[in-house]
Amino acid sequence: SDKFTVSSFLKAKQSGEKISMLTAYDYSTARLIDEAGVDSILVGDSLGMVVLGYENTLQVTVDDIIHHCRAVSRGAKMALVIGDMPFLSYHISPQESVKNAGRIIQEGMAHAVKLEGGRDIIDSVKAIVRAQIPVVGHLGLTPQSVNMLGGFKVQGREEDKAKKMIEDALMLQEAGVFCIVLECVPMQLAQLISERLDIPTIGIGAGSGCGGQVLVTQDMLGMYTDFTPKFVKQYANMKDDIISAVRGYIDELKSGRFPGKDHSFTMDEEKLKRLY
Ligand code: KIV
Ligand code: NA
Repeated sequence: SDKFTVSSFLKAKQSGEKISMLTAYDYSTARLIDEAGVDSILVGDSLGMVVLGYENTLQVTVDDIIHHCRAVSRGAKMALVIGDMPFLSYHISPQESVKNAGRIIQEGMAHAVKLEGGRDIIDSVKAIVRAQIPVVGHLGLTPQSVNMLGGFKVQGREEDKAKKMIEDALMLQEAGVFCIVLECVPMQLAQLISERLDIPTIGIGAGSGCGGQVLVTQDMLGMYTDFTPKFVKQYANMKDDIISAVRGYIDELKSGRFPGKDHSFTMDEEKLKRLY
């Protein structure tokens, strides 16, 4: 198969084929999900919670994203790699936004960047697109606004908020984004937005009317269980697998069953004798 590109996103919108997206933060995971055939890999700032152990995404820096993007990019052969722009990296000025987005492309080796928000960040989106950097939008529950939103909750249930989200989606499309992530949005509203747009939407907790879906890999593999939102479906229970494998290792080690001959190296017996 061919590499998944920005034009593949637009082709998928036209053909109705669903776009698959997952997060990754390291080389080996990127290798696995790329080999499994995922269309796109997001180096999300969920990195902060899932990998770095923070309470939310606000502590993640551009340097953190670059560090993990480089690892993921080396593991992704076919998938399109998107780097999240972290909190405060695209809010100060369009110039600073372009600089930070450029670093995620140049140093992080990503193909595209993602920014949270609509009208408030539209000048930064336009400036980044003008620099020939593909941009992904993100509306609905935007976790970098957690302190303004008062928690992680569904967005757009009220008519005025829904209307604003539709307008923001159209503004982002107009500004040149090639897709929009819709997070924790009522499925009917996500469907309506998806139908209004010429670019695909990627849902997470936004129902089946979107052009594609994204999940946090550790969530869908059942590895990260500190907090499991309603929209997460677990396709594996790796937490139990990992705990049982680690217990097996400890147990075999303590009881002398590991390491055995199969996992050890030998030397010539004659040479050994002379050492005694
Ligand atoms: O950071 C992230 O993982 C994300 C997705 C959940 C959309 O932004
Ligand atoms: Na994110």
